[in-house]
Amino acid sequence: MDNITSRIRDMYEQFPYPAGRPANRIGNDVELALSYQNRRPESTTARQVLDAGCGRGIGILGSATLQPEVHFLGVDINRVAIAEAENAARQRGLGNVRFLESDLMQLDGINAPPDGFDIIHSSGVIHHLSAPEVGLTKLSEVLAPHGVINLMVYAKHGRTPLIQTADAIDLLLPQDMPLKDKVMPARAVAALAKHHVLAGTMFEKTFEVNDVEFVDRLLNVNETSYDIPKLWEVLEAAGLRFLRWGEPKDWAPANLLPEGHLRQWVENLSEFDQFRFIELIYRPTTLELLVCKADNELRTDLKPEDIDSTIFELNPEIVISTGVRQTQAGQRVEKLDFTLRGLDPESLASGPFASALLVLKDRQGSTLGRDLVSALQTIGTSTPDSNAIIMEMVRREILYRPWCR
Ligand SMILES: C[S@@+](CC[C@H](N)C(=O)[O-])C[C@H]1O[C@@H](n2cnc3c(N)ncnc32)[C@H](O)[C@@H]1O
Repeated sequence: MDNITSRIRDMYEQFPYPAGRPANRIGNDVELALSYQNRRPESTTARQVLDAGCGRGIGILGSATLQPEVHFLGVDINRVAIAEAENAARQRGLGNVRFLESDLMQLDGINAPPDGFDIIHSSGVIHHLSAPEVGLTKLSEVLAPHGVINLMVYAKHGRTPLIQTADAIDLLLPQDMPLKDKVMPARAVAALAKHHVLAGTMFEKTFEVNDVEFVDRLLNVNETSYDIPKLWEVLEAAGLRFLRWGEPKDWAPANLLPEGHLRQWVENLSEFDQFRFIELIYRPTTLELLVCKADNELRTDLKPEDIDSTIFELNPEIVISTGVRQTQAGQRVEKLDFTLRGLDPESLASGPFASALLVLKDRQGSTLGRDLVSALQTIGTSTPDSNAIIMEMVRREILYRPWCR
């Protein structure tokens, strides 16, 4: 283990990330993530997921609980966090999750599945590696040809105020001072920065966050931050490519900008330059994206003529809520909302689309397109209208197309 990695390990073993009781993180549905890419998975055995830098297991334990048929492996260099995660898995009686101490830049002992991992999660880790490009290349090597990496790295522009504060702390405190002794004086700098460099940013209140979060933000022994050109470069060097954003709406000019000339100018840029424009103006603090092998690509769009033979499922990241009034004539649905990935709820006016969503809400599991069309016909929707509704539901990510059901 190189010197930086062993200092990173010391830091996270003293302050295992994140603080607090383990909670479930929602999302991370394996079939949904695979549905975004364009290769039908070959293997018929259980799906295999790697959490690269799993920390205390917050993400992986939740995913393993929700997806008992999927096999999970969490790796980290932090022995304290791994022991805690193992314990939590035992207490929950989870038989589908294992943990292992391993350095991402070597992946020793992970015994990768012969066909590779279907999904790799790596949230908040790659930017702490002494050689991020080596870590990403290792992950690429153990990714299945149809595999998807769910990646979160720090974004340079949005974190600049925090980086400046950390640099100011570095000027003040000797390098060899024990980490725990640095916390108090560093908090004093953060309290000053609240009124200046951190004012108005999401990091303004850093001076009062818990010690684990504070050390991670301002006393981290090694971190790199990425802008889009630099991230694209390391992905390419690792044999990977951008697939889609975790939250595409955050990167869509049509969602961010009012209709008009400016939006049109931005939309006339290449996709890459649209992303660069958005990161420069909106300054996200993290880049959360799905990536795939360089020779894979985004799933081809659904064609209307393929609806009948396609299998659909409700997006597991959607929450549908109905407001029902009891009347003398029976129940009347007065309100129908849906929320995707915790975004603002969208209300649907009554009409064929809302009725179709109500029908879908009560269907369990996957449905063949032609059965869906028949179900919509029973509520008076014509075949062309049903097809149009299904196309629209796929476009809005209410329905998705699992590869293997
Ligand atoms: C900010 S924490 C994120 C933990 C977890 N992914 C989460 O989101 O809660 C970063 C984690 O990366 C781990 N890490 C850093 N360098 C690593 C390396 N070379 N190999 C494996 N894990 C590493 C740390 O030990 C720490 O648990």
